Amino acid sequence: MDYRVESLSAEQTRAWGKELGRHLRGGDVVALSGDLGAGKTAFAQGVGEMLGVTGPMTSPTFTFLHEYIGQVQGTGTKVRLIHMDLYRLQHPEEVEVIGVEDAFVEDAICLIEWPEIAKDYLPEDRLDIEILGSGEMPREIILRAQDNDWEQRLKDMI
Ligand SMILES: Nc1ncnc2c1ncn2[C@@H]1O[C@H](COP(=O)(O)OP(=O)(O)OP(=O)(O)O)[C@@H](O)[C@H]1O
Ligand SMILES: [Mg+2]
Repeated sequence: MDYRVESLSAEQTRAWGKELGRHLRGGDVVALSGDLGAGKTAFAQGVGEMLGVTGPMTSPTFTFLHEYIGQVQGTGTKVRLIHMDLYRLQHPEEVEVIGVEDAFVEDAICLIEWPEIAKDYLPEDRLDIEILGSGEMPREIILRAQDNDWEQRLKDMI
């Protein structure tokens, strides 16, 4: 089932990221799609804030990925937060070269902007998020669970 929520500001998008962050744990993979300037990075920053990431979370557009240390909410377990932006990849094979799959491990939470090029490599038990709208338009954030576990977590969250 699709869950749809609205966001009227960057701050609200960030707040939805925080809300998701409360439900994330090691091994989770979240694919974040949407146009340029939709708010994917704003959402990711909200996740980082909830996980207690210190320091600024900037867009990994040129480096493909940034890694932070955070804490799983509820248990306080340390977890790596890996924030990727695959916008600049040209060929699906490059996904292997930069080691995207190395982030799909139990001690890491992985957020992926521009995930489309990596679609054949993404785990099936992921959460897909799509942000519709850009510029000064209101945003619609669509959350699509790809397995039962995510379905349950979204039901608790929204
Ligand atoms: N409701 C909203 N939600 C998110 N961002 C918004 C909203 N309204 C306006 N904005 C603005 O849109 C921009 C979103 O930028 P952001 O870097 O998060 O987008 P992005 O999807 O990561 O883009 P890119 O594809 O370039 O990585 C910011 O400048 C933000 O202030
Ligand atoms: Mg971005």
